[in-house]
Amino acid sequence: MSQRKQTLGEFIIENQASFKYTSGELSRLINSIRLAAKVVNHEVNKAGLVDILGAAGDTNVQGEDQQKLDVYANTKFIQTMTKRNIVCGIASEEEDDFITINSQDENHQNKYVVLIDPLDGSSNIDVNVSVGTIFSIYRRVTPVGTPVTIEDFLQKGNHQVAAGYIIYGTSTMLVYTTGHGVNGFTLNPAIGSFYLSHPDMKFPEDGRIYSVNEGNYIHFPKGIKDYIKYCQMEEGDRPYTSRYIGSLVSDFHRNMIKGGIYMYPKSSKASNGKLRLLYECNPMAFLAEQANGKASDGFNRILDIQPTELHQRVPFICGSKNMVEKAEEFMRAAE
Ligand code: AHG
Ligand code: MN
Ligand code: MN
Repeated sequence: MSQRKQTLGEFIIENQASFKYTSGELSRLINSIRLAAKVVNHEVNKAGLVDILGAAGDTNVQGEDQQKLDVYANTKFIQTMTKRNIVCGIASEEEDDFITINSQDENHQNKYVVLIDPLDGSSNIDVNVSVGTIFSIYRRVTPVGTPVTIEDFLQKGNHQVAAGYIIYGTSTMLVYTTGHGVNGFTLNPAIGSFYLSHPDMKFPEDGRIYSVNEGNYIHFPKGIKDYIKYCQMEEGDRPYTSRYIGSLVSDFHRNMIKGGIYMYPKSSKASNGKLRLLYECNPMAFLAEQANGKASDGFNRILDIQPTELHQRVPFICGSKNMVEKAEEFMRAAE
């Protein structure tokens, strides 16, 4: 008889002792993300049924169309974490500035800040293609009990204590790390529990999938163009297969399971690419490294970059170690 799979709740309790600081605060925080994920999942799943599709008629701080589900997911995650009073600050891709959380209790001891992309791949909602949520967690650097400052959010990615994503796909999964490997949990929608379905996830060292928006090819730097040509060359196990969903979460998830590389390079139109260092690249880079993969801006490790602003963008190359190293080689050679 097959053994019953561990639930996420059980996993969190069992692994709490391995966290650096064991007050249970981080466990409660991950629990609240789990709860918000279920609520957002419910909404994403019925997106085709109700009048929730389409633009909300608003644009976010970066001038992009906000979808109704972007707004909904943003509100739900912020509400859940605020109500439970377990974080001292939140920064979101959908908010102009960070949010300070004032506890009712003036001696509040909350230590963590959360940075979040509440709905990733939002252009895919209207066409029933997988979207996601990405989160990143740090310990504050300013004194506990005082209001958070920008310093608490502008930390290097290598200071993250936890990061993860939820993928609202053919099944819904929550995948996260606290710096002890990456574990994936699948939601059983009938019961409403996440079960450990993908323990200790690892990127294969090599892969045969490359994911990039090739429509922008003409605007890419020479190193990326050369690497794409290398992927397409007939030699050894090449040409590789091209797969691009347009939801970072989904492209990353597939590449981690099958082996592959994701690239959103800079271009002659966008000098730092499109993806946001704090809400997208850092959490994905932490997960990638915890899963034996690699994440780079083409020259430097993503997790070593000192952020200078909340909505900063950065070129992003991430995936199977040998593939990322090969792309970096082409970047250096084209300098
Ligand atoms: P978001 O929906 O949070 O704005 O992120 C979309 C991101 C990423 O998920 C995806 O890989 C990329 O943008 C797609 O961009 P292009 O349409 O330019 O390829
Ligand atoms: Mn995104
Ligand atoms: Mn988003």
